[in-house]
Amino acid sequence: MSQTPILETRDVCFHYQADKPVLKNLNLSIPAGSRVALVGPNGAGKSTLFLHFNAILQPTAGELLFQGKPYDYSRSSVNRLRQKIGLIFQDQDMQLFAPTVLDDVLFGPMNMGCTLAEAEQAARQAVETVEMTEYLNEPVHFLSPGQKKRVALAGVLAMQPDVLVMDEPTAGLDYAGNVNLSAIMDRLHKKGKTLIVSTHDIDWVMEWADLVIAMLDGQVSACGSPQEVLLRDDHAELGFARPSAYPKTKGCES
Ligand SMILES: Nc1ncnc2c1ncn2[C@@H]1O[C@H](COP(=O)(O)OP(=O)(O)O)[C@@H](O)[C@H]1O
Ligand SMILES: [Mg+2]
Repeated sequence: MSQTPILETRDVCFHYQADKPVLKNLNLSIPAGSRVALVGPNGAGKSTLFLHFNAILQPTAGELLFQGKPYDYSRSSVNRLRQKIGLIFQDQDMQLFAPTVLDDVLFGPMNMGCTLAEAEQAARQAVETVEMTEYLNEPVHFLSPGQKKRVALAGVLAMQPDVLVMDEPTAGLDYAGNVNLSAIMDRLHKKGKTLIVSTHDIDWVMEWADLVIAMLDGQVSACGSPQEVLLRDDHAELGFARPSAYPKTKGCES
């Protein structure tokens, strides 16, 4: 039962400005191989937490642990951590910068010290996983938002991470983009990756997640199965919608 969580935060505190705490003694524990959804209103601290996961930000107090070991912010450890825990930003334009799809996806493995041949193999495989092989030599600039998101994901996958952290991955995608990304995420889950996703799409969370973590004002406001968290009577106070297939039965909505 007591398997070491792949990722853990212990009393993590963080502020951008001294008088405005953003993360307040945040405690959470992510089992390896799980599908975790983070929900909660804008400003709750989800993106800030994600920037801690791959050590872009360091907590002002408390600690994070990967596979039971406290994060170490030395340069070599941070590089290793970023290979193991890949972050896909909400805005894919922040992640993509090379002229073509292949160049972009090559960057991670090259930066890790792979030879060009190894990097190309990893990049081609990652591009295939996200079904973008036909665009390999295309300029990133002209791709649709959904395609860009998949290239950003490939860039992270090329480093063969254990954990994929995706910040509102479906925001701004159309229906087809959404379905496509969900299918890719299912495949990654089956390969044993741990997936951590923030989203406002409660219907999707209800059927997709193993674990739901609700955040409010820099703290975990609820944590458990989709049923346990999303069907709470106080969902509105916690800042998320109720799944549409589970309308409230008690009383009448006015
Ligand atoms: N770079 C920043 N500088 C100062 N404040 C920030 C910065 N990024 C986010 N914040 C503030 O931190 C709080 C949490 O934001 P964020 O982590 O983006 O929440 P969420 O992703 O849940 O919407 C908000 O009050 C936001 O205004
Ligand atoms: Mg955010």
